[in-house]
Amino acid sequence: MGEYVVTGSASGMGHAVAQRLRADGHRVIGVDQRDADVVADLSTRLGRATAVRQILEAADGRLDGAVFAAGVGALRGKERLTVEVNVLGVTEVLLALQPELAAAGNAKVVVFGSNSTTSTPLVPRGAVRRLLRGDTAGATAILRRRGPLSAPAAYASSKIAVSRWVREHAVTADWAGSGIRVNIIAPGPVLTPLLRAQLAGETGKQVRSYPVPVREYGTPEQLAEWVLTMLSPAADFMAGSVITVDGGTEALLRPTDW
Ligand code: NAI
Repeated sequence: MGEYVVTGSASGMGHAVAQRLRADGHRVIGVDQRDADVVADLSTRLGRATAVRQILEAADGRLDGAVFAAGVGALRGKERLTVEVNVLGVTEVLLALQPELAAAGNAKVVVFGSNSTTSTPLVPRGAVRRLLRGDTAGATAILRRRGPLSAPAAYASSKIAVSRWVREHAVTADWAGSGIRVNIIAPGPVLTPLLRAQLAGETGKQVRSYPVPVREYGTPEQLAEWVLTMLSPAADFMAGSVITVDGGTEALLRPTDW
């Protein structure tokens, strides 16, 4: 049986993935800011370093996979938090786990992106560039200039940056060449505490108006099923792929984009 790290294991899709892995007999090192094996705040450098240290202690030199589901939604006034968790909460931790993942020989990594990467208009490219350099302060300054649109812009920028980072790294010698398959899952609206909070908050009207052709929200269990496939040998021939599971929104908004 395998050994997996799951960030965001206390809620929503991360929780559903951790439950599925445990039900299949795997050992899961859950990471979250509460109710987890490793309790750490992924929005700070210190918290990320603490998470890495405790994961490595628990992993004992080898990891069969990792799932990065910890994330925050579009929160007005919390642009810095959003980009810290959604970008550095993945990239810094994943880089630190590379030797343990390589030691497994055929490890699989799944990072949660979002279909907002392709459906959000006017995302400031300068912010994305800064995030790719790890400059969250510079990115935040650009994002705040968007006024009322700064929160959705921060969210989409964070997911574009983390997705680009994954695609650039996934195909290199350190990752694909070391037997590690790193891929992205890009959900549309999935009924989790994150989405419920957005529906109840000031963004509720905007979220409700988002077109979902299948006319229902996804469930955490549906997305967990896809993640489990991306952790299985079925993903041996995948590297840097983006799997969109979004009820058809992407196809509706960009039918001719390739
Ligand atoms: P959720 O809110 O149910 O779970 C996210 C988890 O991340 C929570 O347990 C939370 O405590 C943890 N987390 C947040 N900030 C943290 C921090 N600073 N340190 C440690 N842990 C932290 O969210 P959900 O919906 O399950 O989201 C999972 C991922 O999927 C996120 O990356 C989200 O951006 C992404 N996503 C969600 C969509 C949705 O409609 N629910 C749509 C597209 C992407």
